[in-house]
Amino acid sequence: MQRLYFLIVLLMVPGALLAANSPDSIPMSIVPKPVMMKRAPGEFVINRMTTVLVEGTDQEDLRIARFFADRIRYCGGPLLEVRTMAEGDKNLAAVIFVHKKQPASMPAEGYELNVTPKQVRVTAGSGAGLFHAVQTLFQLLPSEISRHNPPMSYKEWNLPAIKIKDYPRYPYRGMHLDVSRHFFPKEFVKRYIDLISMYKMNTFHWHLTDDNGWRIEIKKYPKLMQIAAWHTDHEDLPWNERPAQQPGEKATYGGYYSQDEIREIVQYAADRYVTVIPEIEMPAHSVEVLAAYPQFSCTGGPFTVPTGSYWPNIDILCAGNDSVFTFMEDVLTEVMALFPSKYIHIGGDEADKSNWKKCPKCQARIKSEGLKDEKELQSYFIKRIEKFIVSNKHKMIGWDEILEGGLAPEATVMSWRGVEGGIAAARQGHDAIMTPGAYCYFDHYQADPAFEPKAIGGLTTLKKVYSFEPTPAELNPTEAKHILGAQGNLWTEFIQTPAHAEYMAVPRMIALAEVTWSPKSHRNWKDFRNRMSEQYIRLSKMKVNYCKGSFKVSVNTEVDKKSNAVRVILDSEQPEVPIRYTTDGNDLKSSSPLYTGPFEIKGNGVIKAGLFLDDKLVEKATEMPLIFHYATGKPVKYHSDFSERYPAAGVTALTDGLRGTNNHRDGLWQGFLGNDLDLIIDLGKEMPINSVQTNFLQNQRSWIFLPVVVEYSLSSDGKKYHSFNEVPNKIAPKEEQVFIQPFNFQFMVNTKARYIRVKAKNLAKCPAWHEGSGEPCWLFVDEIAVF
Ligand code: ACM
Ligand code: ZN
Repeated sequence: MQRLYFLIVLLMVPGALLAANSPDSIPMSIVPKPVMMKRAPGEFVINRMTTVLVEGTDQEDLRIARFFADRIRYCGGPLLEVRTMAEGDKNLAAVIFVHKKQPASMPAEGYELNVTPKQVRVTAGSGAGLFHAVQTLFQLLPSEISRHNPPMSYKEWNLPAIKIKDYPRYPYRGMHLDVSRHFFPKEFVKRYIDLISMYKMNTFHWHLTDDNGWRIEIKKYPKLMQIAAWHTDHEDLPWNERPAQQPGEKATYGGYYSQDEIREIVQYAADRYVTVIPEIEMPAHSVEVLAAYPQFSCTGGPFTVPTGSYWPNIDILCAGNDSVFTFMEDVLTEVMALFPSKYIHIGGDEADKSNWKKCPKCQARIKSEGLKDEKELQSYFIKRIEKFIVSNKHKMIGWDEILEGGLAPEATVMSWRGVEGGIAAARQGHDAIMTPGAYCYFDHYQADPAFEPKAIGGLTTLKKVYSFEPTPAELNPTEAKHILGAQGNLWTEFIQTPAHAEYMAVPRMIALAEVTWSPKSHRNWKDFRNRMSEQYIRLSKMKVNYCKGSFKVSVNTEVDKKSNAVRVILDSEQPEVPIRYTTDGNDLKSSSPLYTGPFEIKGNGVIKAGLFLDDKLVEKATEMPLIFHYATGKPVKYHSDFSERYPAAGVTALTDGLRGTNNHRDGLWQGFLGNDLDLIIDLGKEMPINSVQTNFLQNQRSWIFLPVVVEYSLSSDGKKYHSFNEVPNKIAPKEEQVFIQPFNFQFMVNTKARYIRVKAKNLAKCPAWHEGSGEPCWLFVDEIAVF
């Protein structure tokens, strides 16, 4: 029967069959994309006769070989014999694991894979390399390898013949999980580690302590488990509206991991070449400790474990009290005994120093240590802890606030408030790990909030994560070596269940896995998105609750460098779902034009675009006005730097025809942090100019203020400028609404120019009444339209 069908197909579509046999026709959906990969003719068949061999008697290599064989058996492949290679085995139909001395040509964690129809050879200089090779082999096998439950019957499997040479771009490829805001069971933590290791990431940053609960057993301080690990259960209420625990109320929400469970998870991770970095927060994000031990506070308490939002972080550990250091050293002693990780994370973020300012003990410490202020007191705290950690042969890592008041001598910085902390650390010769909020905070929305479960805010799409470049361009090669890699952070204020945690982490963590593993030159969004189709099939088989991605169309423009023509590019995260659009203001219908590629726009209009499944619009249509003006598509030369956190489309963003909306994270606004905007637009030739119309955004709750003044000047040769005209700001910075303010200027009739210089003076620092008083503030600009 099957044969007959095969024959009919053969006779009917010979071309298709030929294609099916050609080396490139098997989809190579390996994620992260290997450094080098070359398909060869034929396949290696894994059947009952296949042996899994290990060169040498290394127990670690045997364990990896068994891991490979066990997974194949569990998922429906044959039962494979695993053993040490013997004389005469050389030509066996086998999968052979070869653990060589690390060859000079092979970076750490690298591997080589050679699959021929006769044999499979896996070569690496480390267990990690062999393990990563196994993950690649799994991705080359049919998707059944991701099966959640064993099947009823067993069959043989084929591996495509292929040569792969592969190694990571960065040594640090991490995922973080906050188990304090919500507690996650041990089984989920293991599954999270499975996901990390499947995509060749190698670090699990376990955020074990924070205001809402202490989650690690510390034998010397039993009240951490009795009191600090629990709060009253208000899980039914929104995070920001939960009342504090009242006297007499029972604390029933929470939990902690016993030391045995921690050891079990650390071993589970180690078996998958994932290092677990524990984080113990200090001096802030520690009010749960104070609920158990109020004597470690500045005020004496009493305190309860917060049931929801705790902000600002006022009640923090007292830096003037030596018993606080004794406590932390005791805790860290037990922590270091549990975690073989080189790094111990001590938090260090978001400490509100109000109590330190008033506390006699803290003030006495400032005096006795000759410190300048509370920032230096924080630095004193962290340095003292670092000394202890280093004396115990570990290294300290902390959030980028540990830069304030002076970095501890050997500290590694985790840069989360943008990449600036990482840059500063690298320039001081310290290692840094990049986890900037805009790209690496997976508690942000990943698609249109109208269609998503409640998240903390932001908008960090899969595509945005994929676009992240961990090494900032401004670092020189020596400094750049200090950027160890990047990490995705999963804070769980708004994430109550394992299924929801998976939803937020996957697939964004896979994009970050590729960013941190694959060569920069391999980065290609379309190719990644296509390869992800196969990953989604596998994740479904694993029953991972991944986010299906946005069904929203993104509108971008591209400028033809030669003709300055502006073309509209429509895109989405769904590779095979058709996009329909209109440019004439009409609403979308199933008969609206189908998008087939970038199209040119020659006048003002509104782009409406949406994805259609079964002739129905899937989500709300995207609507984007497009303005056409003299500067559309014209080059802009910057004399000041926009922030990497809000680059919009980069140097073309302000003349691309698209105007930012009320949402400061819409990807269209360009942000300047603390500094002024200063740029020159080149219209290409001298021409009559009527007006310049520039939009700025005010959103003071997000620290975004209108400019103090905008200055326009003109030139015909780009050297001598004239017509200096100022447009002052007339709106108070305190205005609470979010709004867009045009700063327009009308020139006198018959004004001509080729170059337009635009300067906008940033308010520079948040005003005294603002929560960010004295800190750098934002200036947000979009589209400088010239008419
Ligand atoms: C952080 O997000 N507070 C590190
Ligand atoms: Zn104090």
